[in-house]
Amino acid sequence: MSEPVLRVESLTKRFGGITAVDALSFDLAGGRLLAIIGPNGAGKTTFFNLVSSLLPCDGGRVLFHGRDITRLRPHLVSRLGIKRTLQIKSVFPQLTVAENLWITSAAGRGFLHPFRAAASDRAARERVDDTLAELDLAPLADRLAGTLSYGDVALLEIGMALISQPRLLLLDEPTCGMSPAETTRAVAKIRELARRIDIIIIEHDMEVVFEIADDIIVMAQGAILARGGPREIAADARVREAYLGAPEDDLTVEDAAHA
Ligand SMILES: Nc1ncnc2c1ncn2[C@@H]1O[C@H](COP(=O)(O)OP(=O)(O)O)[C@@H](O)[C@H]1O
Ligand SMILES: [Mg+2]
Repeated sequence: MSEPVLRVESLTKRFGGITAVDALSFDLAGGRLLAIIGPNGAGKTTFFNLVSSLLPCDGGRVLFHGRDITRLRPHLVSRLGIKRTLQIKSVFPQLTVAENLWITSAAGRGFLHPFRAAASDRAARERVDDTLAELDLAPLADRLAGTLSYGDVALLEIGMALISQPRLLLLDEPTCGMSPAETTRAVAKIRELARRIDIIIIEHDMEVVFEIADDIIVMAQGAILARGGPREIAADARVREAYLGAPEDDLTVEDAAHA
């Protein structure tokens, strides 16, 4: 068996009396798009904060391609190739789409280093262009980010995570606030990206989850309630009871048809 992309061992985070992430353990195999679902407060975002070292954990370990990254500083985790988007959208509204990508890539390379070769700049510009093309944002390259539709902002955010060529992308509720049409477009893009990058997505929209995920983890109170493919999760009685609370016919295998 090949080494997992991510191995999480007894990962734990407490906030005062709350155990937000409670001895969480699982492996993520390469090439599988993992969705994490669960009610508000389940610990999903905190889990991302621990993986990206934005928060220190209280116990446990995270291994990335076999390397212990638990106590690495955030910029080093990022440099190893783990990139994330935030639940709250965070682009620079006064800059154009292309400038947002450019400045993110420059920040990642160490800002405006005086001795940096022009070649590196050229390579970075090409990456900006590639990223614009990959996300269908090229026609919007010169638009101020503050004037974009919600769906385009979300794609730009994904672009800002992609620009430094990550190996693992963590997406926190990327479709939150999107119209159905924007959601469809974003889901198609994310599926496309998943062919070349490992992705974990936190997502509340079950339709999206069943369409997009190879593998689903249901979190509740910081721990794993269930794990399986879309069909299994849709059929899991505990998941229905504890989380979905949906009547039988609200959650059909048809939803999980892409499994
Ligand atoms: N920085 C923080 N300080 C205190 N409590 C927090 C903090 N971040 C999250 N929590 C708490 O931890 C629990 C898990 O939150 P979160 O990871 O945001 O859940 P989810 O993303 O699944 O909705 C919640 O009870 C939340 O209130
Ligand atoms: Mg959250």
